[in-house]
Amino acid sequence: MVGKHVPVLLQECLEGLNIAPGGVYVDGTLGRGGHSQAIAERLTTGTLIGIDQDDAAIREAGERLSPYGGKVKLVQGNFRDMTGILRELGIGRVNGVLLDLGVSSPQLDDGSRGFSYVSDAPLDMRMDRSSPVTARDIVNGRSEEELRRIFFEYGEERYSRAIAAAIVRRRAERPLETTLELVDVIKSAMPAAALREKQHPAKRCFQALRIAVNDELEALRDGLEAAMDALAPGGRLCVISFHSLEDRIVKNAIRARENGCTCPPEFPVCVCGFVKTMKSVTRKPITPDSGETADNPRARSAKLRVAERL
Ligand SMILES: C[S@@+](CC[C@H](N)C(=O)[O-])C[C@H]1O[C@@H](n2cnc3c(N)ncnc32)[C@H](O)[C@@H]1O
Ligand SMILES: [Zn+2]
Repeated sequence: MVGKHVPVLLQECLEGLNIAPGGVYVDGTLGRGGHSQAIAERLTTGTLIGIDQDDAAIREAGERLSPYGGKVKLVQGNFRDMTGILRELGIGRVNGVLLDLGVSSPQLDDGSRGFSYVSDAPLDMRMDRSSPVTARDIVNGRSEEELRRIFFEYGEERYSRAIAAAIVRRRAERPLETTLELVDVIKSAMPAAALREKQHPAKRCFQALRIAVNDELEALRDGLEAAMDALAPGGRLCVISFHSLEDRIVKNAIRARENGCTCPPEFPVCVCGFVKTMKSVTRKPITPDSGETADNPRARSAKLRVAERL
């Protein structure tokens, strides 16, 4: 259990954000408030805005951060709406934005939320419990082709076709209701050798469904644009991603503002009108050291990219 509650790449994020005690920082993925607490501790006259779409996260982190009083403002919402959230708070430019993507350990550990393939729960997987679409709706309502695409694109699942077909056959008898029912159907569609692999056989499909339910990739694209727009010159963007789909989106969003010139290479000067507004601080993403990954298995796939607004 050692290190279970230690935020991923904490020191690296604090350095990446380059925290000034009087600055304004946004934690777009508050979770249980681990990163936020460390940021708040370093502020004197500064402000931390914590955003999470999960009402439980806002409540839990709210207790943890209550000692910091007026320095901390928490908002339940989606980081893709950061522009409007900051406007409502009357905040102009900010000095740093942190996004620590994916699901939190409280979400995974709460057996009732349906994120986990090891505990039986209704097929929900919504981070924002007021949003209309659950995993149950997707599993029972989308076409076979659409399910195949979700498992293949968002989960890089090799057996996406067989799994989608098995789901459609099974739901013709009665709808799938729980996570473990879904795990059984997924396993039934996979060859025996795949079931013996180290990774849990349902891991990729569960990741894929979670991405679909929460529209995670589109939210990330929107959130990155809003975050980079919100930064003051010198302000820092720090993003921790957990799979290659996310990391690619982060890398490309930064690159588009760093090197988005579309002029042919033989042109002596740029005429396309591109204005460079970001610069990468990390050439290659930062990954946790072996000490951190030994303590915290979730950290194993983490990648941190840092960029600065010009
Ligand atoms: C990995 S956890 C963050 C953990 C946090 N850094 C800590 O130290 O406790 C990710 C959190 O981000 C939230 N989240 C994910 N995508 C979001 C989005 N688009 N908008 C707002 N919150 C989001 C999830 O609900 C979850 O609570
Ligand atoms: Zn150009």
